[in-house]
Amino acid sequence: MLDIRLQTIYDMLKKGMIVADIGSDHAFLPIELVKTGKSEKVYACEIADGPLLRAKNNIEKYGFSDKVIAIKSDGLNNVPIDTEAIVIAGVGFYTAKKIFEDNLSRLDKFKQIIIQVNSDIDLLRKWISDNNFTIENEIIVKKRHYYTIIEISTKYNEGYNSKELLFGPILMKTKTDVYIEYLNKELIKYKKILPKVDDNKKEEINKIIKFINEILK
Ligand SMILES: C[S@@+](CC[C@H](N)C(=O)[O-])C[C@H]1O[C@@H](n2cnc3c(N)ncnc32)[C@H](O)[C@@H]1O
Repeated sequence: MLDIRLQTIYDMLKKGMIVADIGSDHAFLPIELVKTGKSEKVYACEIADGPLLRAKNNIEKYGFSDKVIAIKSDGLNNVPIDTEAIVIAGVGFYTAKKIFEDNLSRLDKFKQIIIQVNSDIDLLRKWISDNNFTIENEIIVKKRHYYTIIEISTKYNEGYNSKELLFGPILMKTKTDVYIEYLNKELIKYKKILPKVDDNKKEEINKIIKFINEILK
């Protein structure tokens, strides 16, 4: 039932967690977590009425209304206190940032925080770095687009350098086949745009190309 993106998030979650899926829409992840017994209780949290109703309908359809509880919540605002892990997936960076910043002091209460933004992954890493949080794990998957799923913790980290912010401190160590494919595509993209950009932008693009070549070496 889960696609590769949601399946990877499912796999990254530890067994036995009370999970809150923030921005749950279809509630596929919460349903799979209880269906397989990986979680006993999951909160499917949604800000919008339409997606919340869709989540509720799916939860009922699959017969898990006792274990998956749909909650109307803007970010973490109404997320119950017994939540052990949170997932924020399929949203833009600025939405994720606001969800985190509205309840920043709550973040160190969670045993797992998993985040997947659809855009601006470098800005997400910069936000993590600026808050001195730690990137615990990163996995890149491909389903038409490339999606990077990041697990963070509030454990102190002195910050990440610009190469790590752009290309992922863990991804550049694990160097999976999907990541290498992604880097090669990025390399082609940047080489193509290099002759078309202003001189001041050339320096930045050349730096990115250098980073990619260093990782691919
Ligand atoms: C594209 S869906 C992603 C659904 C699912 N998480 C996934 O990855 O497939 C994003 C959902 O996040 C919800 N959303 C956006 N901002 C939110 C917020 N501040 N709090 C809770 N849900 C939010 C939207 O209503 C939408 O249903």
